[in-house]
Amino acid sequence: MNLNELLHKDELNRDDIIYLLNLTGEEDLQQLYNRADEVRSQFCGDEVHLRGIIEISNFCEQNCVYCGLRNDNDSLPRYRMTPEEVIETARTITNLGIFTIVLQSGEDAHFDSDIISYIIYQIKQKSNAAITLSLGERPFDEYRAWKIAGADRYLLKHETANPVLYESYHLKQKLSERLDHLKFLKSIGYQIGSGNLIGLPMQTIEDLADDILLCKELDLDMAAFGPFIPSPKTPYQHKTTGTSELTLKVTAVARLVLKKVHIPATTALDTIDPIGRERGLTAGANVVMPDLTPFPYRSQYQIYPDKRGSQSDPLDSAAQIKKRIEDLGRKISYKRGDSLKQDAQPSV
Ligand code: 5AD
Ligand code: SF4
Repeated sequence: MNLNELLHKDELNRDDIIYLLNLTGEEDLQQLYNRADEVRSQFCGDEVHLRGIIEISNFCEQNCVYCGLRNDNDSLPRYRMTPEEVIETARTITNLGIFTIVLQSGEDAHFDSDIISYIIYQIKQKSNAAITLSLGERPFDEYRAWKIAGADRYLLKHETANPVLYESYHLKQKLSERLDHLKFLKSIGYQIGSGNLIGLPMQTIEDLADDILLCKELDLDMAAFGPFIPSPKTPYQHKTTGTSELTLKVTAVARLVLKKVHIPATTALDTIDPIGRERGLTAGANVVMPDLTPFPYRSQYQIYPDKRGSQSDPLDSAAQIKKRIEDLGRKISYKRGDSLKQDAQPSV
């Protein structure tokens, strides 16, 4: 089977995926990206969905070895936004015509069932924006309370589908538990998002193929693929950065495999590659997630260093992102951009 035939195969198996992730020649890669772009257009249309991120707290009880927010990093100034600041920022986001609000933080028990429910309720009183939570692994009764309060989606990356690597990166946590959380979230009606990190120490191409297959098995509504970027004051500070090429290959192959799923062109990709968003959006991605966290907090959410846009005014940064999308000839969606899957919202 030649490359063109393989790219048009309906169901790619693990060997096919590994083969595609190992492609190297410029022409072959362009052919892969073009096919992913075509599949994206066919299954998701040409609009780009925007998700406005509010990083509500950079406290984290976990100690993931690759992450700058890890609990042991005591050189990072920590902050929590007040509920009023979060609600006000959400209003700024909907005023920009962005109708998905992502509430993101480290695992921070301070933001408990009641506080998050209050924030969700207040945002929902003022708009019908979709609310995505990205607050880490939390007790199941909290997920339920937040769903009842009006949350629509939950983003919890699986990070790696290799259980041995998972335990070496996370020490206290297990992959099977993370998957149980994702399955529970889906079972109570959340649209779910997951994804991985690319270029982590010890990770192989086979692991990345398994990441894509795991995303398929989980029947995700959204899948995010971002490069690993070494972060100071972490055990992985001197490791090698994931490459933009491998991130694009994973994005493109994931589009071929997952088809009807939202895939963002990630900020991490845009951080390691000056035209990362453009490259992601033309290799299978259909979503962009601008960070609209206000100053001074946005520069303190240092998962990895020099995050693109973290030193700029949030509104300027969002305007620039919109312009880059339009310059690509793509339209911006001013709708919620819910799951592309039919049965995404069973009752609570
Ligand atoms: N480089 C890139 N992404 C990272 N994340 C955590 N640490 C890094 C890093 N060093 C991502 C993880 C996690 C999210 C909070 O940020 O995928 O899910
Ligand atoms: Fe905390 Fe998430 Fe960073 Fe892990 S990846 S240390 S859970 S913020």
